[in-house]
Amino acid sequence: MTLVDGFGRVHRDLRISLTDKCSLRCTYCMPAEGVPWIERDSILTTDELERIARVCVDLGVTSIRLTGGEPLVRKDAVEVVRRLAALGPEVSMTTNGLRLAELAQPLREAGLARLNISIDTLDRERFAQLTRRDRLDDVLAGIEAARVAGFTPLKLNAVAMRGVNEDELVDLVEFAVGQGAQLRFIEQMPLDAGHTWDRAAMLTGDEILERLRTRFRLEPIPGRGSSPADTWTLDGGPGSVGVIASVTAPFCAACDRIRITADGHVRNCLFARDESDLVPVLRGGGSDEDLVRIISGSIAAKRAGHGIDSPTFVQPDRPMSAIGG
Ligand code: 5AD
Ligand code: SF4
Repeated sequence: MTLVDGFGRVHRDLRISLTDKCSLRCTYCMPAEGVPWIERDSILTTDELERIARVCVDLGVTSIRLTGGEPLVRKDAVEVVRRLAALGPEVSMTTNGLRLAELAQPLREAGLARLNISIDTLDRERFAQLTRRDRLDDVLAGIEAARVAGFTPLKLNAVAMRGVNEDELVDLVEFAVGQGAQLRFIEQMPLDAGHTWDRAAMLTGDEILERLRTRFRLEPIPGRGSSPADTWTLDGGPGSVGVIASVTAPFCAACDRIRITADGHVRNCLFARDESDLVPVLRGGGSDEDLVRIISGSIAAKRAGHGIDSPTFVQPDRPMSAIGG
């Protein structure tokens, strides 16, 4: 049995949010004071996470990405990686990098296959403004530690924002190439807790490419599969850059993702308006078949696309930090 939706999309990529908490306060994600956090008792235990992951692997999931909030804020994140990797799928993580100087090596040993690290600017003051924490040096040390621990190809994510970091796009790419990493620019999506997203403030994929072409010769790399990023070689390679144009060129038609929130709700899309709660089954003595029913029911109800660019789009109630990127 596989997780197939009404449009024939087979779901193989599971994203699990380990916690909604975060050590940064990126302005495009959270207000300075944070958000009302999920109650501690509602966060899934590691046994519960493992059980859900096992059921999903039995349903054809071949890759699991751990997200947050910031996944490494969870105290037993390394143990979670160890237990999920033992189930067989490729386990990867998206992190803000703050704890990687200490954890990159243990994560590697626990079986983590790939890392994506977020870095929106290389300027210390700008970083402090954008994330409301003066921690750029920790991220840089984290990137270095990830490289030393053997996480290749390393991917770095940057949200491209008009008037914020648009003058740094070339520098970010050059920095990534110097680290043997691939930079991927992301269009800013309407997922912030403060509901302050403004389409006009977003830098579009086309605008990102235009800026990069002032410095690099870009040639498209064909065949992106179910990856959300379009990629280009830089000056003939081997360096490359990616653009995730979630707003202007959504990849919904190839989406194979299913998400579990830190409090055990299944979401069939980042932008879904509803979700299905697994906790009554997990904590009420339900069977694995009960979990399968809820998870496959959620996928069966998945919509064709998110419609962010449509005038009738309604932002989900949960912020990104509580859904997982
Ligand atoms: N739009 C686009 N990307 C976002 N991220 C967080 N919030 C948004 C948003 N509103 C990014 C983070 C990180 C990844 C998990 O998602 O910067 O790279
Ligand atoms: Fe934390 Fe990521 Fe949100 Fe920044 S974007 S506050 S790193 S969860």
